[in-house]
Amino acid sequence: MAIYPIRVFPDPVLRTGTSPVTDFGPDLRRLADDMLETMYAAPGVGLAAPQIGISRQVFVADIGDGPFAMVNPEIIEISGKWKFEEGCLSVPGRWWEFARPAFARARGFDLDGNPVEYAGDELMGRLLQHEIDHLSGLLLLDRLPRRMRKEALREIRESAQPGAI
Ligand code: NI
Repeated sequence: MAIYPIRVFPDPVLRTGTSPVTDFGPDLRRLADDMLETMYAAPGVGLAAPQIGISRQVFVADIGDGPFAMVNPEIIEISGKWKFEEGCLSVPGRWWEFARPAFARARGFDLDGNPVEYAGDELMGRLLQHEIDHLSGLLLLDRLPRRMRKEALREIRESAQPGAI
């Protein structure tokens, strides 16, 4: 197992998008184990492969019911609306309260290539939407209401260390 450095906005790998996984072998399991270790160490409740620089459709998560992974996931149902203070390991130390659909259902595969579905509202619904966004190169910043997004980008820009690259 290994802990990867977490890529931070505006790292372009977070924006690149991802390719589907086609090989459900031991490398995929190793990747998921490393991602879980990285996520727990951060600590966070979800981590998508682009956040460690890997442009593949995989995320791992644990919102308190134990770890799970989804491969090639897609959102197939959303409903309702829920305000929540959401953060992201790739935009560290910041949280924004905003609304997304409360309920989400996602379909994909487990690490062995078996079809799986996960669904839930509140934190689970939010997590599924957030992680699957990562796989499309989207960040929570893109989901903020326009004015909040403008302010968030300004704050991030102003807090950047002079000379940091
Ligand atoms: Ni995130």
